[in-house]
Amino acid sequence: MTTNRTFTMIKPDAVANGHIGAILNDIINGGFKIIAMKYTQLSKEKAGEFYAVHKERGFYGELVDFMSSGPIVAAILEKDNAVEDFRKLIGATNPAEAAEGTIRQKYAKSIDANAVHGSDSDENAKIEGDFFFAADERF
Ligand code: TYD
Repeated sequence: MTTNRTFTMIKPDAVANGHIGAILNDIINGGFKIIAMKYTQLSKEKAGEFYAVHKERGFYGELVDFMSSGPIVAAILEKDNAVEDFRKLIGATNPAEAAEGTIRQKYAKSIDANAVHGSDSDENAKIEGDFFFAADERF
């Protein structure tokens, strides 16, 4: 199945370092349209729920602590081939391995504080968008 939407978060490190504007600019210049957007902070409980798929991984506790440590920007984005194209725009999970010009290469400092989230499948894009946004909060 293909859809034309993906879900993203600008993570606490990028928000704290003043990169919201630059990252949104890259997203818009990359051809993505903002369908929904929210400035919010995840509780530990909510962050744990969002990343439940990683529960068994060694980094889960730190990931939950980090993702609930400060405000984030959550958004639903629209573009043809959104999920795959957005993963290309943000670059590899580890910024040290992210391609030149990608958002993580430019704005992330480490694999755990890597500036942005991007859904890894159409199915997860839908689940993650629904996690943050009610029907009357998307356009
Ligand atoms: P993952 O889904 O593997 O990466 P991506 O965000 O690129 O889809 O991992 C989710 C998040 O978990 C990742 O963005 C940052 C964090 N993480 C770590 O802190 N340490 C790690 O070794 C990995 C693989 C991920």
